[in-house]
Amino acid sequence: MTKPVTTTILAEMKKQGEKITMVTGYDYPFARLLDQSGIDCILVGDSLGVVVAGHKNTLPVTVEDMIYHGKAVVRGTERALVIIDLPFMSYQVSRADARLQAGRIMKETGAGAVKLEGGVSMEKTIRSLVDIGVPVCGHIGLTPQAVNQLGGFKVQRERERLLEDAQAVAAAGAFALVIECVPTGIATEISRSLEIPTIGIGAGPGCDGQVLVLHDMLTLFDRFRPSFVKPYADLGTETRKAMQKYSEEVKNGSFPEAEHSFS
Ligand code: KIV
Repeated sequence: MTKPVTTTILAEMKKQGEKITMVTGYDYPFARLLDQSGIDCILVGDSLGVVVAGHKNTLPVTVEDMIYHGKAVVRGTERALVIIDLPFMSYQVSRADARLQAGRIMKETGAGAVKLEGGVSMEKTIRSLVDIGVPVCGHIGLTPQAVNQLGGFKVQRERERLLEDAQAVAAAGAFALVIECVPTGIATEISRSLEIPTIGIGAGPGCDGQVLVLHDMLTLFDRFRPSFVKPYADLGTETRKAMQKYSEEVKNGSFPEAEHSFS
């Protein structure tokens, strides 16, 4: 078995200037495929609420949802670091709640880390998780759990606030920081100013790594695709084609043939 990716390996990769790859994953078969492809980190993102469950945003996602999907991903992963999102309202009410829910997620899934959204406002929460041995990845810029407050899924351009948020997350002991929908110049400045690796999504090439939502990059989700996503494959079209062929063959009697039947 190849050596599993750890938070310390990610720190070393930043020092060596080696880019970090992260992709979201929500189930066992894709976790195996991502892991076999050599992806460094699999993020069980609460984006599953949108691209898997069909909600309009991530707010309805529960801790139980994250545990269910997290367990499946961990079962399918040997090498990649599995990081699980803390869903909306599982860590915002109190630090005790955050410890309880993050602890549950780590204990019940076997994941290597959790991620939560917020900068300065989450500094104490991140520290309180790190203090009990829970590795935390931060997330600043466009934080989808705050979509109602941000007035939509928009690029975040307030340089001072973003720099302060990034410093707060790093100072609290996070091992990495996701930066979402931030202009390249600001994300690059943040990445250069921090010792911990930054993982960008819609934040340009100056970050220490990149993350994309799996269903966006494989064209499995067709309701919308953010402009920063590169479609690496069109599995939506391939799936429709396969299903049309199957349907045709069942209806015209050419499937199943003798080789698919028992004598
Ligand atoms: O939930 C998610 O998939 C995420 C990524 C967009 C970073 O947080």
